[in-house]
Amino acid sequence: MLKLENVSKTYKTGDKALQGISFEVPAGQVVGLIGPSGAGKSSLIRCINRLVEPTAGSILLGDTDLTRLNGRNLRQARRRIGMIFQEYALVERLTVMENVLSGRLGYVSTWRSFLRRYSPEDVSQAFALLEKVGLADHYNKRADALSGGQRQRVGIARALEQNPELLLVDEPTASLDPKTSRQIMRLIRGACQERSLPAIINIHDVMLAQQFSDRIIGLRNGEVVFDGAPDELTNDVLTRIYGDEDWTQLRGEESDGESTDGSNDAPSVDLAEGV
Ligand SMILES: Nc1ncnc2c1ncn2[C@@H]1O[C@H](COP(=O)(O)OP(=O)(O)OP(=O)(O)O)[C@@H](O)[C@H]1O
Ligand SMILES: [Mg+2]
Repeated sequence: MLKLENVSKTYKTGDKALQGISFEVPAGQVVGLIGPSGAGKSSLIRCINRLVEPTAGSILLGDTDLTRLNGRNLRQARRRIGMIFQEYALVERLTVMENVLSGRLGYVSTWRSFLRRYSPEDVSQAFALLEKVGLADHYNKRADALSGGQRQRVGIARALEQNPELLLVDEPTASLDPKTSRQIMRLIRGACQERSLPAIINIHDVMLAQQFSDRIIGLRNGEVVFDGAPDELTNDVLTRIYGDEDWTQLRGEESDGESTDGSNDAPSVDLAEGV
């Protein structure tokens, strides 16, 4: 479980990116974090893994207050958090398999990681994950030879190879086509359900957020202005989050999208069944 209490972030520039954010994410729940540009979505995700230092508040992962950790304790806690980024952050000249195994790097000793020696269990888990994300045949390809969708699947496998207790995902589909985006979201959702992982997914696409989240949190100006079920995202709520706009077209598209969910876009059974 993840619990945020009164988390605030004011950057040195004076930007108040987060103002008193409090919520809990129970095991297995996928939270879609939405809001306009500059609302504080990335700041929130980065405060949780301490890439950004929160100015105030506490962030509990299980019994550990992440805001109080330093040095070795912080590194250990970060191993418990799987990160999936928009820009994939793969090591280009390494193979798919090596990239996935690097999810274990926090666990293997320094000399072993230097020699890139992993235990047989780590390797067989990595193979199983590549199978699940539909990339088993590509395990020996270099990362720079993959398409965007394939790279993001490697990113997912790497995060899961870490056996995390929490997944933080920052715009996983921002540079992917609609069909690939849905496959990626389905994979992440499936993994969270299967492993009872709480997850926060920062996502711009409201329809995707609705379809693949258990709960939606809407941020505006660093504050939570909506926290509820995906089907409670009415036009009024969207206006509260994003400001005035004609939402009717989006609402129409959304109901079409739901009726075809899962029926026409998964080329392989693995993708449809999640991880
Ligand atoms: N390193 C930084 N230094 C100063 N201000 C920052 C920094 N990072 C973000 N901000 C400010 O904090 C606020 C929130 O930014 P953040 O990147 O968290 O928004 P976001 O919701 O992720 O936006 P987007 O949807 O565009 O990615 C903005 O006003 C931004 O200008
Ligand atoms: Mg952002």
